[in-house]
Amino acid sequence: MGSTDTRPPVARRTPGRLLFLFAFHAALSGAFIVAYLTGDEDTYAMHQFAGYTALAALAVRLLAGVLMPVGPLRLPRPAMAATRDWLRRAAMGDARAWGQRSPLLAWMALALLAVVGAAALSGAVADFVVPMEKLHEALGEVSLPVVLAHVALVAALLGLKKAAGWRARPTPRQEVIAP
Ligand code: HEM
Ligand code: HEM
Repeated sequence: MGSTDTRPPVARRTPGRLLFLFAFHAALSGAFIVAYLTGDEDTYAMHQFAGYTALAALAVRLLAGVLMPVGPLRLPRPAMAATRDWLRRAAMGDARAWGQRSPLLAWMALALLAVVGAAALSGAVADFVVPMEKLHEALGEVSLPVVLAHVALVAALLGLKKAAGWRARPTPRQEVIAP
């Protein structure tokens, strides 16, 4: 009551919210892989189930992001200036940039949610509107390279973080000299 605190709301990473993100990621990636591998006519029932599961996971994630615009559940908001700055520092070999959270992750998350969302949504439409099948198949094919790029980015950033850790370690020579 009568508080003069003008700080923005705190971004709380509660175990429940992190568990939600983990469950969402597991459900979406599992459903995506199954849907991608079963797009054929022979396995259509499985494709339908996996595709609608991916769509439902994305809808729940979107709803959570809209209801909780602050904290770990907020929807990705990439920032161009921060990304340019990070890329410049990382390219110049700045170990602090390698070790910190990369702004590229927000671009990647947005691309994934958009492309996989478009694939799943167009599939649901194609279920009723047959001419949509061609567009859906194209979106389904496009989503694979985006997902593979995502996995490659996550692995590359992990590598950079490890390299930053090694760099920060004192060399045996420094250890001897240090008081
Ligand atoms: C080996 C496989 C994978 C690994 C190691 C992995 C790892 C990750 C990590 C660490 C993040 C969090 C990035 C951050 O901190 O912002 C993330 C986010 C995400 N991943 Fe994956 N991922 C994998 C496969 C997949 C697959 C197959 C999909 C299918 C579409 C996927 C979709 C997503 C999405 C949509 C996000 C953004 C989550 C959000 O902001 O709500 N990932 N992934
Ligand atoms: C992330 C989710 C989805 C992905 C990645 C995906 C991917 C694909 C791919 C790659 C194909 C082409 C397969 C081929 O050419 O052999 C395809 C076909 C198709 N998908 Fe999906 N799909 C998804 C969701 C859905 C959903 C929710 C539905 C709704 C039932 C659906 C309905 C269809 C239909 C009707 C076809 C054409 C099948 C045929 O040619 O007989 N998809 N999908």
